Amino acid sequence: MLERQLSTSQQKFNDALRARLEINRSLRAHEFLYGELIFRVDEQVFSPKLFAGWRYYTPLLSKIDLAGKRFLEIGCGCGITGLYLAATQNIGQLVLTDINPRAVSNAKHNAERLGLPTEIAFYESDVFDGIPASVFDLIYWNHPWEQEKTGYRHRDELEKGLFDGGYQALGKFLKGLNDFLDPSGRALLGMGISADLHLFYGLCHEHGFHPYEVRDPQQKSASREYILYEIRKVTTTPPAIVWRMRIFKHQRLFILKAQASRLIGRAMRLVQSNPFGRNK
Ligand SMILES: C[S@@+](CC[C@H](N)C(=O)[O-])C[C@H]1O[C@@H](n2cnc3c(N)ncnc32)[C@H](O)[C@@H]1O
Repeated sequence: MLERQLSTSQQKFNDALRARLEINRSLRAHEFLYGELIFRVDEQVFSPKLFAGWRYYTPLLSKIDLAGKRFLEIGCGCGITGLYLAATQNIGQLVLTDINPRAVSNAKHNAERLGLPTEIAFYESDVFDGIPASVFDLIYWNHPWEQEKTGYRHRDELEKGLFDGGYQALGKFLKGLNDFLDPSGRALLGMGISADLHLFYGLCHEHGFHPYEVRDPQQKSASREYILYEIRKVTTTPPAIVWRMRIFKHQRLFILKAQASRLIGRAMRLVQSNPFGRNK
């Protein structure tokens, strides 16, 4: 099994993420407009207002024809993506799940408020564990891809929206695809540039899959922060060097951005401490 430990700079990065999560923790129930739909976000539910990955993934998912299809969303949060798709397309069957019980009841409440015609089922579930045996044409998860060490103990349910220590839940997801995904179906994962892409690609290969980036052909350039992957079964896995080069290409941007902001921070500190800039 692939084990994950954290570097010091990664721990610092996570502290910044936790500070943002602290804002989420202090939020009262609030409302949120997407398209023409109003969503309520309950207390202690991952807020789409603070974490914007869904804004990148949802329009890409909207390009898929879901008419009459069976769609499962793992980790639905307040239901923003699944319910938006159900409101804009004639989905055959929608299943929304989350490990956070507050998120499940929040998504249920939003579905009732929106009065959608689609048949929707809700389950509190650790990946596939709580879902009755069934197969789906599309399975999607905006995965909590930020990096944490293997066996990481979450402070509360809200933290599960950000961290999946050692990507253990992701491993369960990949394993479960064999049972829950129709052979002609598609599995999509929301990920980001700050994810541990080495671990992600390695896990995919361990389970006989390979990830492919999903892009809108009309989109001129890729997002600098988010990546939507399609996970496809492979019969022959590409040599590791091929996907390592690809990861390098993605993460180079992220590293450059981090280096640039460190340099700017250093320059600002230098300017502030410059005696020539001060009145004597
Ligand atoms: C990145 S958030 C995405 C929330 C929402 N779908 C969105 O796009 O804003 C990840 C979600 O996955 C849920 N989650 C984390 N671990 C899970 C697991 N093992 N099984 C099911 N859901 C999980 C979290 O509670 C959280 O709601």
